[in-house]
Amino acid sequence: MTIPTPTSEGLAALGGTAPAGLPDEGSLARLAGEFFAALPSGLPGPGAGRAPASPPEAPAEIRLGDAGPQLLAAAPFAPVQAESVPLDHASAAGPAGRPALGVPEAYAAALPTFSPPLSPPPLAPSSPYYFLGEANAAPPPPESVPVAENRVVPRSFGLPGDGELQAILAEIAGDRRGAATPVGPGPGHFYFLDGAAAPHGEADLPPAQPSAHPAFDVQAVRRDFPILQERVNGRQLIWLDNAATTHKPQSVIDRLAYFYQHENSNIHRAAHELAARATDAYEGARSKVARFIGASSTEEIIFVRGATEGINLVAKTWGWQNVGEGDEIVVSHLEHHANIVPWQQLAAAKGARLKVIPVDDTGQVLLDEYRKLLTSRTKIVSVTQVSNALGTVVPVKEIVAMAHQVGAVAVVDGAQSVSHMRVNVQDIDADFFIFSGHKVFAPTGIGAVYGKRAILEDMPPWQGGGNMIADVTFEKTIYHGPPTRFEAGTGNIADAVGLGAAIDYVERIGMENIARYEHDLLVYTTRALLSVPGLKLIGTAAEKASVSSFVLDGYRPEEVGKALNEEGIAVRSGHHCAQPILRRFGQEATVRPSLAFYNTCEEIDTLVAVLHRLARGKGRVGR
Ligand code: ALA
Repeated sequence: MTIPTPTSEGLAALGGTAPAGLPDEGSLARLAGEFFAALPSGLPGPGAGRAPASPPEAPAEIRLGDAGPQLLAAAPFAPVQAESVPLDHASAAGPAGRPALGVPEAYAAALPTFSPPLSPPPLAPSSPYYFLGEANAAPPPPESVPVAENRVVPRSFGLPGDGELQAILAEIAGDRRGAATPVGPGPGHFYFLDGAAAPHGEADLPPAQPSAHPAFDVQAVRRDFPILQERVNGRQLIWLDNAATTHKPQSVIDRLAYFYQHENSNIHRAAHELAARATDAYEGARSKVARFIGASSTEEIIFVRGATEGINLVAKTWGWQNVGEGDEIVVSHLEHHANIVPWQQLAAAKGARLKVIPVDDTGQVLLDEYRKLLTSRTKIVSVTQVSNALGTVVPVKEIVAMAHQVGAVAVVDGAQSVSHMRVNVQDIDADFFIFSGHKVFAPTGIGAVYGKRAILEDMPPWQGGGNMIADVTFEKTIYHGPPTRFEAGTGNIADAVGLGAAIDYVERIGMENIARYEHDLLVYTTRALLSVPGLKLIGTAAEKASVSSFVLDGYRPEEVGKALNEEGIAVRSGHHCAQPILRRFGQEATVRPSLAFYNTCEEIDTLVAVLHRLARGKGRVGR
């Protein structure tokens, strides 16, 4: 399928003009995007038919649903037992010098034998990787991994924050001893507690409740991320800095290489083959972003460098146009600096006022206080969906609805949410939704702004140059419509295509599977951290995702981060670009482990083992 999209610039270069009746560039791109979006999963995508330029795709036959409902049998949440996890992982048996990491190990046992699809995958079925299908995805899986473990279990799960997590976090916020229904291991089940007195009343806690849900096979997922085999300071890397950035699956790495090997060109600008391939790939990625977050049209998706640039775009376009003296902008106390500073700058330039929604002592926004802040002068409400510093899941749908009641525009910062939960911008009813690709397993330097079509139509551009114009004379310029009006110059084409591949990847796993697995892992992490004497969690809202911020008596956060790094464990320690919310809790910095779906209970055990050694006044630990 070849849909070149000549621009007036490109045609002029060819010595021609657009013939009457020929759709313009924007319309062609939109039509191409809609066409590709309508293609069923697994059919050849953009670039197909132009052999050899078919980008790597997973085989259509390998779908989450293939294994069938018999896979949905309940499996207990099985924490790693003390005796099964030696401290020195490097000496334990395992495919890469580590034992088989397990969360929870019983899940794998619950999986039925995998029956191959009736027809073989059409593309490179030799891939050892779970979701890839590409021929060049090495290395092979270990002999010992049964085929059954190479499958994701399909099922529909709730989002983090319900049930067990609420009970544990309520316990933390109130009486630690009073928990009604904690989950995870019972007393003494953490191997790192051997011989140590159980702190924080652990001995009083009732035994673990089995999880009602089996999860996907984390070991198979981990094989898709080559960097997870990296060694740091002699240890296998444990990456718990996912709120800062996530790692990239082989399919994303391969997609970038494929782009540069077969498609590389500027887009929208020429009538040659590679321009068409690159344009198809870029616009195909836009379609994937639109589908991923539930936008109604690709024209509502603007590619930007990341969430920071996205928020600045909104502040400097809609904000600049609509906020005046005496108007009000509302943010929450939880915000990342990227969702504070652009609004502060706007308020200062326009004589407007910045108001802040307070949080309670768990780190959740106070909706009643928010309601009191809203007035007829409120022009913008901008809130995060998940706090990067505390992990709080913010009730953005309610916040947006209340903003709309006073006629304000609502902006949602999704930088920390899109990798952890299903997002639907139409359900939230956000006017703008912004996220960074690198936090959702895509490359750095690419992100997206969703804006409601009607709002984007009226918004002025913020940067001028090529690509965003329909016609330029020295007297005046006519701009394209959205989204290209907001994409001046040559964008980050390859990384946008990489973002599309990352979205394909997480959608093949299933956001509901990811959310459920991470929920269980966060419950496990919370409970494990609480076993460390002198450790205080910062941020204990009932609904959280991914993040566990803490401080440890006797150590500065950077000392803890350094000690963890010596063990190959990556966490962020510092202010997390969210100084106001840390100061709300009396802190200048915290240690912040943050989870992704490739993390395991065993990695958490190792983290907590180091913290126990620190709490006992010892430095380096062996593992
Ligand atoms: N916003 C990123 C973080 O929270 C960088 O670490």
